[in-house]
Amino acid sequence: MSGFGRECAEIVRAAREGSYKIGMILGSGLGALAEEVEDAVRIPYSHLTEFPVSTVTSHSSELVAGTLSGVPVVILSGRAHYYEGGDPTVMRTPVETLKELGCEILLATNAAGSLRQEVAPGSPMLISDHINWSGMNPLIGEEDEKRFLDMSTAYDADLRAAMKKVAEETGDPVAEGVYMWFSGPSFETPAEIRMAKTLGADAVGMSTVPEVIMARFLGMRVAAMSIITNYGAGMQTHALSHDETKSVALQGMERMKQLVRAFVKEIGQ
Ligand code: HPA
Repeated sequence: MSGFGRECAEIVRAAREGSYKIGMILGSGLGALAEEVEDAVRIPYSHLTEFPVSTVTSHSSELVAGTLSGVPVVILSGRAHYYEGGDPTVMRTPVETLKELGCEILLATNAAGSLRQEVAPGSPMLISDHINWSGMNPLIGEEDEKRFLDMSTAYDADLRAAMKKVAEETGDPVAEGVYMWFSGPSFETPAEIRMAKTLGADAVGMSTVPEVIMARFLGMRVAAMSIITNYGAGMQTHALSHDETKSVALQGMERMKQLVRAFVKEIGQ
């Protein structure tokens, strides 16, 4: 089973020659990072074969190829989610495209709810590992033996160390924790949040895990970062909403931009 990554990579190369080092996927409210890319071409997903256009407001659905901190990068500004159509392979072609364009590293970002009081809304959290609570997997149906993918080092230790180093250099250490994937699109219940805490999660969200599995399947090294936009259900007095996700992600954007730029510089040399 394979997607249209090669075909899409050709379309990108026709618009901008070159090979790329780091691929990024931007989550809810984080699209502003794509504006930082220099010498860029911007290609709407609708021009890329089999690229899913997200139905989520705040996802812009364009591929941006260029340089960030002098490093050649491809940014996928906007992702499609499992909950949009029930397809865990929905991001297969976009991740394959990054790989075909030469990206050895994937940096995935998302918005997430915190389960830890000390990791407050507005702050970033580096993902150290995940729990796949959805029960879904983008490798279902894969026939190759490669489907029995080792996930014990999914979130690359060297990349995490690099992110922690650049965070400390800017005087603000970054929290690190386990991300638990719920299918969504409804938010969790307070009971589910208590369960998630008991099971060892530090944050909850509705994305990223399928792309990480796919990227590892393709042999990419992975780093992932959440922007915490709220506390988990039952941990805050007001209701959870996508409006809050978008507005708090925007508030955390400056810090996120600073970290991502420094990280790309650190690992891209
Ligand atoms: N739960 C799931 N997804 C989310 C959350 C949350 O609390 N916040 C942002 N995305």
